[in-house]
Amino acid sequence: MSTEPFSSLFKESKIFQNREVLSPHFVPASLLFRDKQIDDIVKSLNPSLRGERGRNLFVYGKTGTGKTSCMKYIIDKIRTLPVVKAKIIYINCRIHNSRYRVLHKIISDYLPLYAKKGYGIVDIYEKVINWIEEDGKVLVVVLDEIDVVKDLDDLVYTLTRANTDIKSGGITIVGISNKISFKDALDPRSLSTLYENELVFPPYNSNELSAILKDRAEKGFKKGVIDQSAINLAAAIAAKDSGDARLALKILSKAGEISDEHSLDAVTTKEVSDASKYAEEEIAYELVNTLPEHQKLIIYAISMLSIQGSRYKRLSEGTDTYLFSGDVYNKYSQISESLQKEPKSSRWYRKYITDLEMQGLINTYESGKGIRGHTKLIKLAYSPEKMKDTIEKTLLRESEAEVGK
Ligand SMILES: Nc1ncnc2c1ncn2[C@@H]1O[C@H](COP(=O)(O)OP(=O)(O)OP(=O)(O)O)[C@@H](O)[C@H]1O
Ligand SMILES: [Mg+2]
Repeated sequence: MSTEPFSSLFKESKIFQNREVLSPHFVPASLLFRDKQIDDIVKSLNPSLRGERGRNLFVYGKTGTGKTSCMKYIIDKIRTLPVVKAKIIYINCRIHNSRYRVLHKIISDYLPLYAKKGYGIVDIYEKVINWIEEDGKVLVVVLDEIDVVKDLDDLVYTLTRANTDIKSGGITIVGISNKISFKDALDPRSLSTLYENELVFPPYNSNELSAILKDRAEKGFKKGVIDQSAINLAAAIAAKDSGDARLALKILSKAGEISDEHSLDAVTTKEVSDASKYAEEEIAYELVNTLPEHQKLIIYAISMLSIQGSRYKRLSEGTDTYLFSGDVYNKYSQISESLQKEPKSSRWYRKYITDLEMQGLINTYESGKGIRGHTKLIKLAYSPEKMKDTIEKTLLRESEAEVGK
């Protein structure tokens, strides 16, 4: 076998000094433009950290505004302080997405002896309560991406009830979310519990994103590889779209990869502009993974019809495929039923279509008179083949999780 495919593994990159620094999972040592937010969170947690029963906190901000990074930064700092009386646990609800899983995560971290024995929820709850009461400690539970917890009202109720069951010490909740409509779905009681304190992370503007990128580029790229104009362009693209630092970083690292693949020795505005197209697509596919189930199924239906559907092509629009809203609804209902799921009513369907358009995943047009009367036409904003693949992967994962529960 030729060693050719592997040789590039060992070839030193002319572009990257440390790729890891440009990855979205990297938490930088200092977070720019977030002093106020960090300060506010610490202030809100102050009573809990001193071992008193504190107020719960809710942190909202659009995607890529630094919520997770700031929280992890704060947790790391708190853990190094000797005077702190609280235990603070970070829980990614994307992974631990139910009351049982959240409680189980708490047990696994602090009382691992009980984690393996297949205890039920009541037993786990009692173990947690006893452990808190032992020395009257305060447990701060950070629930990141809290909106994906399936039985959130139950979870909030259980964690809060702990405070009445516990004689000394307590539990403080920090919820984090980027879903603005999340509030509407909550039971009023959970709402008032979670929103005792509220904090908003604003999107970054173009100058802020430039500074964030510059800092990362200095550590991630080799010296002199990228200049300010390329950085500014990446920042401007991300700022215009969303103020999302993750998108900005993605564009930058993708631009670096493009230069690397073409054996160039610099990253210029050209690579940044090419990279921005890839980065936006990639983010769209990630976004689909986070959609609620029925919205995912609607995108799935649209993808399938777009792949099949030459009969829906509208002559005046060249090769673009437009779908009739009614056809999409029928396909969606069919798919739901084949998965033994009750399809939502057409009223919900129309609401979902509006949501999906707001998220930039589809475009819709009102047809003029003549095409089946007055109807909505729908077009997927990204490749239907890739959308279909992405959804099939997550649906598969979810059904495995169901079985494993
Ligand atoms: N102020 C900042 N300084 C430096 N890097 C930042 C800053 N804010 C965000 N980043 C970087 O941007 C990326 C995304 O940030 P983060 O994951 O914290 O966003 P988020 O608000 O949690 O987004 P989401 O709602 O999608 O979870 C990370 O790689 C992070 O390092
Ligand atoms: Mg986050």
